[in-house]
Order: sequence, then structure tokens, then C-alpha cells
Amino acid sequence: MSRQLSATDQWIGQFDSVLRTLVPHAAQASRPSPAGELPEASLSEVEREHTVGLMRINHTGEVCAQALYQGQGLTAKLPDTREQMERAAQEEIDHLAWCDARLQELDGRTSLLNPLFYAASFGLGAVAGAVGDRVSLGFVAATEEQVGKHLDEHLHELPAADRRSRAVLEQMCEDEAHHERWALEAGGMRFPLPVKLGMRLVSKAMTQSVYRL
Ligand SMILES: [Fe+2]
Ligand SMILES: [Fe+2]
Repeated sequence: MSRQLSATDQWIGQFDSVLRTLVPHAAQASRPSPAGELPEASLSEVEREHTVGLMRINHTGEVCAQALYQGQGLTAKLPDTREQMERAAQEEIDHLAWCDARLQELDGRTSLLNPLFYAASFGLGAVAGAVGDRVSLGFVAATEEQVGKHLDEHLHELPAADRRSRAVLEQMCEDEAHHERWALEAGGMRFPLPVKLGMRLVSKAMTQSVYRL
């Protein structure tokens, strides 16, 4: 009976995580946004729309990160690193909430494609976790590296005046580099270049669709 209850609890917890990730404004950050009291920039309409597109991509990236961590949390063993993984997942919730808040401030919305990307990333995370911890941690490291590259590009592309978005992305960049280092130190395998290039292509397709949708 207690085993049955704990399985039910697990499913409720899982469902709660799905809702918190996918329902706009539902994610609760544990740290205040790095945008803090920085002044809002006066952007032209073109600049505002471009920034919304970029922040929407970053928000979807965080939806994928959540799904990846949740998927592998379900199947991976990770006896020594589960606590660290949960801490990283909490930091991804912060990123999710900060991007969401920034989109609201810019009068933008989150991507309509998020449920699709959530499902795909959850599946990939669960498969990687089931294959083994070395692969699953390697997948985290490769994903974080990819996200870091996107963030760098976006930091160059943001309108110079938008210090609020910049502060958010800079903190995310720092956190993602930390997650990547942790996953490698915890024993994650370094994915070969062709796999990383494949991941880069998939993420390009993702960013181009989410920029608009
Ligand atoms: Fe993140
Ligand atoms: Fe991360």
C-alpha cells in the first residue's frame, strides 16, 4: 500500500512539475531576478520584437532543460549526484521564471511550441538516464555547452540599451557553465564532435521556429 502511495505521489509530483514548467507565470524562482532594479530601456518596436524573440528562445531552452532533468530524474541512478542534479534543476527553474518575467515586461509571450519541446526533451532525458549515468551526465554537459553558446550569441545580439535582459542572460551563462562543469566532473562522457554538431543542428531548428512561434 505504501509503495502504491509513493508511486502515486511521484506521479502527482511529476504532473506538478509539468504544469509549473508549461503554464506561463507558474514557475517560482528561488533567487531574485538579476535584472533587479535596473532601469527599463526605451526600445524601438523593431528592437523590442527582436528582444522578445531572443528571450522566447531562452525561455524555451529552459523548458527543455527542465524536461531533460525531469526525464532523467525518473530513470537515472545517479547515487552520488542526485542532490547536485536537483540543485541544478532548481537553478533552471530560476532561469525559466526570470525569462518569463522578462517576456512579460517586454509585452511578449512564451512559445506555443513549448509542450512539443517539453515532450521531446523529457523523452530524450529519460532514454539517456536509462542508458546509463555516464551518458546521461554527458548529455547534460553537451546540452549546457550548447545553451552557453546560444546565450553568448544572444548577449551580442541584444540591443545595447537593454540592461535588464542582459543581466538575466549573464547570470544564466554563469550558471550553465557551472552545470556543464559539474556534469563532466561527476563522470559525464564527452560527446564526440559529430554528436555535438547534430545537437547544434537540432537546436538551430528549434531556435528558428521559436523566434516566431
Ligand atoms: Fe538554464
Ligand atoms: Fe543549466
